[in-house]
Amino acid sequence: SRAELDEIYAFAIQLGKDAGRMLMAAAQARMGDAGSSIQKAHVQKMNAVDLVTETDEDVEAYIKSQITARYPAHQFVGEESYSKGSSRDYLIDDAPTWCVDPLDGTVNYIHLFPMFCVSIAFIHRSKPLIGVIYAPFLNQFFAACQGRGAWFNDSQALPLVRNPVPPMPEKAPAGCVFSCEWGKDRKDAPDGNMARKVESFVNMAAELGGRQGRGGMVHGVRSLGSATLDLAYVAMGSFDIWWEGGCWEWDVAAGIAILLEAGGLVTTADPPHPNEDTAPIEEVRLGSRLYLAIRPAGDSPTETGRQS
Ligand code: IPD
Repeated sequence: SRAELDEIYAFAIQLGKDAGRMLMAAAQARMGDAGSSIQKAHVQKMNAVDLVTETDEDVEAYIKSQITARYPAHQFVGEESYSKGSSRDYLIDDAPTWCVDPLDGTVNYIHLFPMFCVSIAFIHRSKPLIGVIYAPFLNQFFAACQGRGAWFNDSQALPLVRNPVPPMPEKAPAGCVFSCEWGKDRKDAPDGNMARKVESFVNMAAELGGRQGRGGMVHGVRSLGSATLDLAYVAMGSFDIWWEGGCWEWDVAAGIAILLEAGGLVTTADPPHPNEDTAPIEEVRLGSRLYLAIRPAGDSPTETGRQS
């Protein structure tokens, strides 16, 4: 019911704030600890670029304990819990589910680059209904709940940047900022793999920015290292387009909830052909590994007023 969803939303907001403070305290402790070397601060998971720190694990354990105490009937999918044991291919089903990345942007955190955050989503019937993202180093907080609008730092409705770019795919943006992520797949020869990715990113940006015969006008190509923050910046209107192939549910669920509520679009389209598959996420079950996000056109938010 509406009242239940609102209550879950308020709980998620508080949880995000508390978890973000934990992240910040851990980052500050690392900054102040002259003996903590970047190399020792993490262990590898899948490969040399798939990393986990004690902070990821501690923050996830905290979030999970809070959720299971409050909502024992809900399912929990967390990046670190999953890595440790589950072998399910398909992580989200129709049950009420919390999908959590305790630290999205782990590489950034390890290198003390400020683009890291906690990302918490509440999903029902495979649809992200609530998203909370807190990047404490940046002092940026995003939250959205279906029917309640999408919000930045508690009081500003998203998108913040309202003009003049219309959304893809109806009309392509000129002068767009295109964001993409490297992911963690380094199965091919590492250098070759990276080089191919650079080339494909540049081609995608040119293709998407170049529609309407504008000659591939791209204001910038970005790669922040946090998929969920990318989606929040698309919701904000700062990025026009974001693409990643290879992300997991916890990388995108909260960002998708925020972007959809801000009026943006998420598809599983392959960017070189963005008009071929434009099914919005409502019709595409979470579980794709490949997403294309398009910024809101700048319509007014679904609900006005101040975030609780
Ligand atoms: C990663 C980041 C990164 C993306 C990867 C994710 P993590 O999450 O979001 O930007 O390219 O696919 O796995 O490991 O930092 O939580």
